[in-house]
Amino acid sequence: MYTIQTLNKISAEGLSLLERDKFEVASEIKNPQAIIVRSAKMHDMEIPSTVLSIARAGAGVNNIPVEKCTDAGIVVFNTPGANANSVKELVLAGLFLSSRKITEGITWAQGLKGQGAEVSKTVEKDKGGFTGPEISGKTLGVIGLGAIGVLVANAALHLGMNVLGYDPFLSVDAAWGLSPSVQKAASLDSLLAKSDYISLHIPQNDQTTNLLNAAKFGIMKKGIRIMNFARGGLVSNKDLLAAIGQGIVERYVTDFPEDELLGNPAVIPVPHLGASTPEAEENCAVMSVKQTKSFLEDGTILNSVNFPNCSMERGNGARLLIANKNVPNMLSQILAALADNNINVDDMVNKHRDTVAYNIIDVSQPVINEAIIKKIAAVDGIIRVRVLNKEV
Ligand SMILES: NC(=O)c1ccc[n+]([C@@H]2O[C@H](COP(=O)([O-])OP(=O)(O)OC[C@H]3O[C@@H](n4cnc5c(N)ncnc54)[C@H](O)[C@@H]3O)[C@@H](O)[C@H]2O)c1
Repeated sequence: MYTIQTLNKISAEGLSLLERDKFEVASEIKNPQAIIVRSAKMHDMEIPSTVLSIARAGAGVNNIPVEKCTDAGIVVFNTPGANANSVKELVLAGLFLSSRKITEGITWAQGLKGQGAEVSKTVEKDKGGFTGPEISGKTLGVIGLGAIGVLVANAALHLGMNVLGYDPFLSVDAAWGLSPSVQKAASLDSLLAKSDYISLHIPQNDQTTNLLNAAKFGIMKKGIRIMNFARGGLVSNKDLLAAIGQGIVERYVTDFPEDELLGNPAVIPVPHLGASTPEAEENCAVMSVKQTKSFLEDGTILNSVNFPNCSMERGNGARLLIANKNVPNMLSQILAALADNNINVDDMVNKHRDTVAYNIIDVSQPVINEAIIKKIAAVDGIIRVRVLNKEV
């Protein structure tokens, strides 16, 4: 029986994947083997030594002390892409909101309340103040072609837009999903110079903070419309407001309202609704549960933020799961400990990521006894050893 603690409410759709005869799941559980968390802050929490994995049902892991977990051999998972479709749909809404004066028009129409039969006459007379262009035939520049960017780029093609993409680190998986009709921009500057609309889909880090700044606004076409459903800090607010003043930026739709942006008619602030759909929440829960389940049952690592992806089809004997420091001579000592005890290795995989490595080792024997596990665990540089014995 595996024990899993949930630190927040996790969607029932996800938890229903855990068979009751194999998993005990509760919010109050002592010494769990796994934790599933959404937003609960874990930095000051005492994490029991029994914990093997922490799965965050969501993308960011700021609420988890990842480094401390790595040192303790705790695998931390997140759920990349689980909310991608929800964000994509809101970006599409943002494209339309940026083009047509829908928000101003709605506010204006609401203000006609009480004018009786005059309402429809006033609407017809004054609607000309709210015209805006179609997006079809215009050029959208998508910066960052990951889970969300690919969906946005493909959907924009279906809406009749020309799509330019820029991502110097494009993954093979993303490339498989991207329509061949998306054109590769030679550089960020070339994308900025050619686009009528821009959508940001990159993480915020040291390289990307204030990516859109005065120099970049200077390259853009006059009247550009910008969608930011990635992170507020990717755009310099000061330079953006100046670019709006100079008529460079026609509209800025952001999922990250900040005080200095509010009240500016060119800014459409959306209250961080990108992932706020029941489907996104459910997808995150399902992914985090599946990752936790296959890690506990088979030692498989998929979508970890601190350990390498690692999986191997299960053999007929026992399975050893070993996390170690990524230093020389580890494997030879592990294999020597097995050989000394006459244990035959059937299959194995060894992967590393930064300072750590992870091994899945299947042996012929159905059971590896405690003494051998202790011997391997005592080797300098070994972080954690777990065995999945076959029931005999
Ligand atoms: N509004 C919301 O509620 C919401 C929800 C989910 C994600 N997000 C944001 O959206 C971002 C994208 O999410 P995702 O799931 O597509 O992430 P992802 O990791 O799948 O894709 C990010 C892509 O950006 C690329 N990239 C990184 N640095 C780049 C750079 N300097 N120039 C161009 N491309 C670069 C990467 O190669 C990757 O392909 C996230 O980082 C997050 O900040 C927002």
